Amino acid sequence: MTAQEIRKKYLEFFEAKGHKILPRASLVPQDDPTTLFTGSGMQPLVPYLLGEKHPDGKRLVDSQTCFRAEDMDEVGDNRHTTFFEMLGNWSLGDYYKSEQLPWFWEFLTDAVSLNPKKLYVTCFIGDKETGVPKDTESAEIWKKLFAASGLEAKEVEIGSNANGYAKGMRSGRIFYYDASKNWWSREGPPVNMREGEPGGPDSEVFYDFETPHDQKFGKHCHPNCDCGRFGEIGNSVFMAYKKTSKGFEPLPAPNVDFGGGLERIAAAVNDDPDMFKISLIKPIISGLEGLSGKDYQQHQTSMRVIADHLRAATFLAVDGVAPSNKAQGYVLRRLLRRAIRYAFELGIEQDLCQQVVPTITSLYAPNFPEVNQQKNEVVELFMREEKIFRQTLRAGVRQFFKLAEQKKQLTGADVFKLYDTYGFPVELSLEEAYLQKVTVSKEWQGQFKDLMAKQRHRSQTASVGMFKGGLADHSQQVVKYHTATHLMYRALKQVLGDHVVQRGSNITAERTRFDFSHSQKVTAEQIKQVEDIVNQKIAEDLPVTWKEEKTPEALKTASGAFGDKYGNKVKVYTIGDPKKPFSREICGGPHVQHTGQIGQGGNGSTDSTGSPQAGSPQRKFKITKEEASSAGVRRIKAVLE
Ligand code: SER
Repeated sequence: MTAQEIRKKYLEFFEAKGHKILPRASLVPQDDPTTLFTGSGMQPLVPYLLGEKHPDGKRLVDSQTCFRAEDMDEVGDNRHTTFFEMLGNWSLGDYYKSEQLPWFWEFLTDAVSLNPKKLYVTCFIGDKETGVPKDTESAEIWKKLFAASGLEAKEVEIGSNANGYAKGMRSGRIFYYDASKNWWSREGPPVNMREGEPGGPDSEVFYDFETPHDQKFGKHCHPNCDCGRFGEIGNSVFMAYKKTSKGFEPLPAPNVDFGGGLERIAAAVNDDPDMFKISLIKPIISGLEGLSGKDYQQHQTSMRVIADHLRAATFLAVDGVAPSNKAQGYVLRRLLRRAIRYAFELGIEQDLCQQVVPTITSLYAPNFPEVNQQKNEVVELFMREEKIFRQTLRAGVRQFFKLAEQKKQLTGADVFKLYDTYGFPVELSLEEAYLQKVTVSKEWQGQFKDLMAKQRHRSQTASVGMFKGGLADHSQQVVKYHTATHLMYRALKQVLGDHVVQRGSNITAERTRFDFSHSQKVTAEQIKQVEDIVNQKIAEDLPVTWKEEKTPEALKTASGAFGDKYGNKVKVYTIGDPKKPFSREICGGPHVQHTGQIGQGGNGSTDSTGSPQAGSPQRKFKITKEEASSAGVRRIKAVLE
């Protein structure tokens, strides 16, 4: 059975159970400024999981294209990809566990004929932090399903992943894990979730490929082991909770959010753990074998990287992304360059995109009409990018010869320069050095790693600046609006509730614009209350201070709009007495030194002590506009007048 057939069967299976088939959403989120890419099937549905009414009803199904840039460096083994399709079905406060689990079981064991003996399941063990109990209800359902296939399903309590490695399978069929494994939200386990975020316990199904356990990962194998024996093929999330400042509260109605990787299910149906052999990827690999004259078995890593990256790149371009040095465009450029570099190593020195991308589009065009419409433009776009990059690569080769001539021995800094400036792969530098009989200094690796770490730090800082600030510039007016925005965010939470979470901000010298989660209109009365609180806090002339804190600690008490995208340490801005702060936010700054400065008229100049100059007219914070920005998100504009 092909992956295309599996996708079709899944959609039809759930359509027959009253689900409306939705088209895939773009890989570039339309209404969600907090993230660059659609990384899971539920992402476009968050407002509806939080209680908003969906125009297509309470039962939905789709196959959502997903992209996870963070997995780019993992690609190369038999199962990691950055791009995949997630089969998803949702109950928006309609059916629950007793329908979801038997339906998915029926799909797996009947519609796509997986052998029940090869299936293992996991359930949530329960914990105090969330107050959510052990999910024996799901376990009972699974037991009956296994029993109907003549299998006795023993329950095993595992808890943490580390315990899994210590305890092993113990002849179990149903395994209980803690929240690090059996809890799902966009931001991971409960402790990482922001207020307002939905999540819940989940139950996963694993397929046993029966490959030997690799002790490199841990002593014993267990379903969540990373050795590759078990492949997770579906996750039913019982999304019934929302995080608040006081803990977890039930959502108005419990939802089901199911997601299963199409490519992984197809690998299970093939009973072959190599995902790159499924019908949606194999033709790409065969094409690469033809182009390079090399065999997949001997060149798995390179061919897998190229196949994955060009699939992802194609869909990003179909969804309107063009290679650039910013945001999504930067990621697309990296994907293309990495694919071209790996192809270079296979000896494919020209026309990679032109030769491979049409194979990809022809695999998807029958099911995704937009791929068909865009295919020629995408190929042309990639050909231009490839041409530019190949010139860079050639310049790298020239640079290499120059260095080799001058030095006879390359340092880590040379290898880094070739890599960073000319996009010249490290392996290529080493190989070239060997061929040219140039030595490479013994310490090259450590030096190279240091420089890479520094470069990563630089680019992280750049991206924090790019996505986090939302500031037009750092002029005094903008800085005043920035601090006023922190006051307003806190005031909105006080007036509307803790579900209010920042969804974006844009601040200029004339106004602040702020997007936040809230599903109703903010009333005139509430607007007045928010204005009063902000003006009150300006009048109190509270100190504004900042401190660097470790991210997990900071996230416990400070608001932050960007979830798990922070580094190890973050800057936290506090307004008011740090022992009893009015507001604490993870933020890059800059801010005024004390809130009185916000109310200061004119250019906001201060005297030598940093206090507002006496005699300037006072300015008041005023909300000038309140409107819907997208489903479940409101937008406010405010000025100081
Ligand atoms: N949201 C869950 C996941 O991504 C199920 O759809 O695994």
